[in-house]
Amino acid sequence: MFDANGYYIRLKDYAETIKKRTSFTPECAVTLGSGLGDFVKNMRVECEISYSELPDFPVSTVSGHAGKFIFGYLGKTPVAAMQGRVHYYEGYDIHDVVLPTRLVGLLGAKRIVLTNAVGSLNPEFRPGQFVVLRDHISSFVPSPLIGQNIDELGLRFTDMTALYDPEMREKALKIGENEHIPVHEGVFVQCTGPQFETPAEIRMYRALGADTVGMSTAVEAIAAHHMGLRVCAVNCVTNMAAGIDAHKLTHEEVKETADRVAGDFARLIMGIVE
Ligand code: HPA
Repeated sequence: MFDANGYYIRLKDYAETIKKRTSFTPECAVTLGSGLGDFVKNMRVECEISYSELPDFPVSTVSGHAGKFIFGYLGKTPVAAMQGRVHYYEGYDIHDVVLPTRLVGLLGAKRIVLTNAVGSLNPEFRPGQFVVLRDHISSFVPSPLIGQNIDELGLRFTDMTALYDPEMREKALKIGENEHIPVHEGVFVQCTGPQFETPAEIRMYRALGADTVGMSTAVEAIAAHHMGLRVCAVNCVTNMAAGIDAHKLTHEEVKETADRVAGDFARLIMGIVE
């Protein structure tokens, strides 16, 4: 059984530990996927805290670096950047997957920008382009709100009608237009991974109304919205999904595309945050 009480105490302990290190209060949080290194280069960093400094904090087993919080200013905006997220497919409990998201909420963030790499199911959304989420389908992964509700964080039954903040969406589309960055609006489906989807699964998700597919983000969006944060999520399309065009999917292709458009991605996310 999920120990909501123990989890909340742990969350508050992490917040206390961080507050002892820095008095910095973030207004906006950002999860940095691969290729968003430039984002940090543009921050005036006040304090970095490695996840390994927080006892039993979930650390990524994929990327090689364990992950850290980077607190600092992007322009005038106080930002908490999260480098190195954990995925459900790594074997973490879904509550641990959203723990960093909840922690930045407890530290005071009012907005969060979630980023990830995705496959596209929509023939018009091409690799190297970006998708701002209008909505998502999370029915294929467990809800991070399962178990006893933590009333201090949010409601037992949370409305998801307007999960993705309309103003932030609008801003993202405007930045795309002004900066000549191809930004679409769409519906995202989160799957567990780690295997890429089969062509039959992709046809099903397309029939259900999804434009993009990935292995993170929707559960973090749910946890952030539960806490009352304004949420924006931006996909970087790294490949066409399985069976959409006839080629084998590899992690290398995902990384290659993400690296190729890293500059655009960083400019887009910086514009949304500032
Ligand atoms: N499927 C799931 N996750 C992904 C994909 C994909 O095609 N590309 C990048 N992340």
